[in-house]
Amino acid sequence: QPVTSTEGQAIGTVAELDKTGQLLNENSPIGPVLVVGTSKDANLIAVNPTCSHKGCTVAWQAQAKKFVCPCHGAEYGVDGKVQKDPATKPLKTYAAKIEGDSVVVKQ
Ligand code: FES
Repeated sequence: QPVTSTEGQAIGTVAELDKTGQLLNENSPIGPVLVVGTSKDANLIAVNPTCSHKGCTVAWQAQAKKFVCPCHGAEYGVDGKVQKDPATKPLKTYAAKIEGDSVVVKQ
C-alpha cells in the first residue's frame, strides 16, 4: 500500500464552515484541525489548534485575526507564528481547500 500523504483529508462540510466561519475537527485522521474562513474566501487558513505551550486548544479571534490560547494567553498569527508569550513554537499549519461539499486539508 503506497503512502498517501499527499492526499487530502475531508475534515468537515462546507455548510459547517460557512455557518460560523470556522470548522474544528479534533479527531481528524491527521489530528486536530481548525479551519478558518468561508467558501467565499480565496484562501482558507488551517492549523493544528493545539497550543505549543501546554496543549490547550487555541480559539480563533476573527476581529483581531489571530489565534488566542485560553489557558495562559499565548497568541499566534494566521501563519501560525507566535505573537505573544508564553508559547515559543508555532502552530502547525496546513493547506486547506474546498472540494465539492467537503473541506479538505492536506498535511
Ligand atoms: Fe496555551 Fe499555555 S497552553 S498558553
